[in-house]
Amino acid sequence: MEYFSSRTTRSVTIPNSFAVSLLLLLSCFAFTSTEAYDALDPTGNITIKWDIMSWTPDGYVAVVTMFNFQAYRHIQAPGWSLGWTWAKKEVIWSMVGGQTTDQGDCSKFKGNIPHCCKKNPTVVDLLPGTPYNQQIANCCRGGVINSWVQDPSNAVSAFQLSVGQAGTTNKTVRLPKNFTLQAPGPGYTCGPAKIVKATKFVTADKRRVTQALMTWNITCSYSQFLSQKTPTCCVSLSSFYNDTIVPCPTCACGCQNNMTQSGSCVSESPYLASAVSDPGKYSTTPLLQCTSHMCPIRVHWHVKLNYKSYWRVKVTITNFNFRMNYTQWNLVVQHPNFDNLTQLFSFNYKALTPYDGLNDTAMLWGIKFYNDLLMQAGPLGNVQSELLFRKDKLTFTFDKGWAFPRRIYFNGDNCVMPPPDAYPWLPNASPGTIIYLLQLIITTLAALAFLVAYA
Ligand SMILES: *[C@@H]1O[C@H](CO)[C@@H](O)[C@H](O)[C@H]1NC(C)=O
Ligand SMILES: *[C@@H]1O[C@H](CO)[C@@H](O)[C@H](O)[C@H]1NC(C)=O
Ligand SMILES: *[C@@H]1O[C@H](CO)[C@@H](O)[C@H](O)[C@H]1NC(C)=O
Ligand SMILES: *[C@@H]1O[C@H](CO)[C@@H](O)[C@H](O)[C@H]1NC(C)=O
Ligand SMILES: *[C@@H]1O[C@H](CO)[C@@H](O)[C@H](O)[C@H]1NC(C)=O
Ligand SMILES: *[C@@H]1O[C@H](CO)[C@@H](O)[C@H](O)[C@H]1NC(C)=O
Ligand SMILES: *[C@@H]1O[C@H](CO)[C@@H](O)[C@H](O)[C@H]1NC(C)=O
Ligand SMILES: *[C@@H]1O[C@H](CO)[C@@H](O)[C@H](O)[C@H]1NC(C)=O
Ligand SMILES: *[C@@H]1O[C@H](CO)[C@@H](O)[C@H](O)[C@H]1NC(C)=O
Repeated sequence: MEYFSSRTTRSVTIPNSFAVSLLLLLSCFAFTSTEAYDALDPTGNITIKWDIMSWTPDGYVAVVTMFNFQAYRHIQAPGWSLGWTWAKKEVIWSMVGGQTTDQGDCSKFKGNIPHCCKKNPTVVDLLPGTPYNQQIANCCRGGVINSWVQDPSNAVSAFQLSVGQAGTTNKTVRLPKNFTLQAPGPGYTCGPAKIVKATKFVTADKRRVTQALMTWNITCSYSQFLSQKTPTCCVSLSSFYNDTIVPCPTCACGCQNNMTQSGSCVSESPYLASAVSDPGKYSTTPLLQCTSHMCPIRVHWHVKLNYKSYWRVKVTITNFNFRMNYTQWNLVVQHPNFDNLTQLFSFNYKALTPYDGLNDTAMLWGIKFYNDLLMQAGPLGNVQSELLFRKDKLTFTFDKGWAFPRRIYFNGDNCVMPPPDAYPWLPNASPGTIIYLLQLIITTLAALAFLVAYA
């Protein structure tokens, strides 16, 4: 949605009177575009919690836990990195389940050398397979955090740190400032740390409750606008009732002849090309298969069959990036018939109901060990599923592109849709008649308004 508005405001080359009314119409979208607000996941955020577990002679030991309270946005490899600025001259003596990327200048210290002396440390997760004595619960997944809906048990990440040269009571301790969360790129903005009610911990046997000495929270939220990404995904459409395959819009994510933004593209498997075997560049810049849309991901929606009281759709997600395996991918789809989804094959499903009563948005994701990994471009680089919907006689129609999705997100980013006038038509309908009908309705309404006003 944010993409939509930023793109539209950029391309105002329309006659003035038109542009004014269009701008008025779009302004309601435009206001939300700079905020980190997602209508499909209004409370989605990442909450970072610092629990002080004990005071030490020169500081404290804290457990920092990150909760991904987002329905469908996850953090994939190479994982998160969390930064902050110390309020005073704090240092990190040691860490468990995480590490700072840079030790900084510890030359003032003799004997015991701190883990990190930087004023603004950056912490990353440890990798899977870390020795047990360097682990804590929920650590060591290489910074990968799943989304709350897909896998709540893996939607948490944690590390422990021992801080020195810091306050040693809840009156003298100073909260760190200026939190930054990279996941892995930009996109998140974090608020200030706020002191909250101390966390209570229940022991495994549930017979004793302990509590942190002090707790503060930081909330970070995502905005596609801030991440300043070009679109990463587009949608193509087809149907059994029309031979036309409506492709992704040309240059939806970039143009083939402009490689400055979208990396490079190749027409065949890169394993033949020697330039690609440079491991240093792996996974940082995408290497795309050449397409007219230049998107790493295409979602194809095919209206496959029409039964008496059901209809069937086939959804295929194709990866065009030779340098990316999408682990734990997910799709968010909006279509009015999701309130009567009857069967879904080989994907997981959950209804997202941001507004009460409006049940038209679904989250789809892969089945563990079966198709939760969307492989790099090539013969295996796709996953697919079929959806069976029950027809509601009042709303169901193949006319006017009703059978096609309204909105699709891949991994939380909005996919570029073909323009509505390009949707496959029913054999004997034409957009001309639809526009004519619309005009008729508008003129009638105008005439009615006129009559009412002057009656
Ligand atoms: C963050 O998400 C949690 C869980 O959905 C919610 O309770 C909390 O209000 C959210 N915080 C903000 C600032 O949106
Ligand atoms: C600090 O600790 C005292 C008791 O030692 C307690 O009464 C007070 O509420 C605590 N303040 C905060 C901000 O936790
Ligand atoms: C906060 O961090 C950003 C980026 O690291 C930096 O540009 C900014 O100056 C910092 N602000 C403060 C108050 O430290
Ligand atoms: C602080 O974060 C924890 C864990 O995410 C959450 O349970 C708690 O409600 C948060 N407190 C506030 C005041 O947001
Ligand atoms: C390529 O894209 C960049 C950024 O969008 C733009 O500034 C540049 O003019 C484009 N070049 C060509 C040849 O289209
Ligand atoms: C993707 O996964 C396959 C199989 O696990 C592996 O062979 C391949 O190197 C991976 N590709 C990338 C780009 O990580
Ligand atoms: C939304 O639709 C799904 C699938 O039909 C159903 O399981 C769920 O209960 C519905 N939720 C609401 C709030 O209507
Ligand atoms: C479709 O779902 C809605 C709301 O869940 C329900 O009221 C309606 O009866 C359903 N229609 C059919 C044909 O099942
Ligand atoms: C199929 O739809 C396209 C629009 O995408 C239209 O141009 C074409 O005429 C339609 N074909 C038939 C047989 O109606």
